[in-house]
Amino acid sequence: MMLALMQTQKSTEVILALDVESRSRAETIIQAAGENLKWIKIGLQTYLRDGPTFVCDLASEGKNIFLDLKLHDIPNTMAKAIESLANLPISMLTVHASAGSEALARCSDTMREALPEATLLAVTVLTSMNAENLNRLGVMNTPEDQVTRLAKLATEAGVGGIVCSPKELSSLSDALPSGVTFVTPGIRPAGSDLGDQKRVMTPAEASQAGANYLVIGRPILEAENPYEVIAGIQEELASSQQSPLS
Ligand code: C5P
Repeated sequence: MMLALMQTQKSTEVILALDVESRSRAETIIQAAGENLKWIKIGLQTYLRDGPTFVCDLASEGKNIFLDLKLHDIPNTMAKAIESLANLPISMLTVHASAGSEALARCSDTMREALPEATLLAVTVLTSMNAENLNRLGVMNTPEDQVTRLAKLATEAGVGGIVCSPKELSSLSDALPSGVTFVTPGIRPAGSDLGDQKRVMTPAEASQAGANYLVIGRPILEAENPYEVIAGIQEELASSQQSPLS
């Protein structure tokens, strides 16, 4: 089942980052998460191992799939890669914004043909990169300025959404046209382990900052009861949406 994204939707959805060692572990977690889990992010680790069949199986169970392949190549190769995904029941797909305007425009056009109900998302600067790492690549902008620059480039090329840190939401939503979808990792429910994430927000904070989708991995994957963790996050989101912070 392929579901179109509602650009105007107000509620913030939880996406499970399904970064696990085996398909059987993935299936155990999905089972334990139950019906509260509506969205699953499949990254390279899982897609390269379990392939399109797994994506189809999850979609046939009613899950919405965010395929996080982070494509980055010459325009023709990126567009042809998207054509190869044409029959997959996915709702979101990532490319790297730093592939450039021509590639992003080709990808946006190809998405409309091959995956008309899915949203193309651009990844800007990876959160593993700091100013020094960028400078070594010859990028003298601060990470924040580079994120804004790449996000503008992507949306001007027709890309529908941006993957960003929740800390970047306020500056990006000012800089970009309305209707852009914001998908944010770096989310930690209050009291949970940060792992290697350094700049985090709680689900309610990120939602109030403008996130449409929250990508959450380890706080759910490592929980004794994933169902309860997701339900707790959804309750936190629902109450924050009813009583916005001033
Ligand atoms: O376990 P955790 O909640 O930190 O997982 C976050 C997910 O979001 C992982 O799949 C990670 O690769 C991804 N991600 C991220 N930061 C980015 C882009 C993607 O953490 N800038």
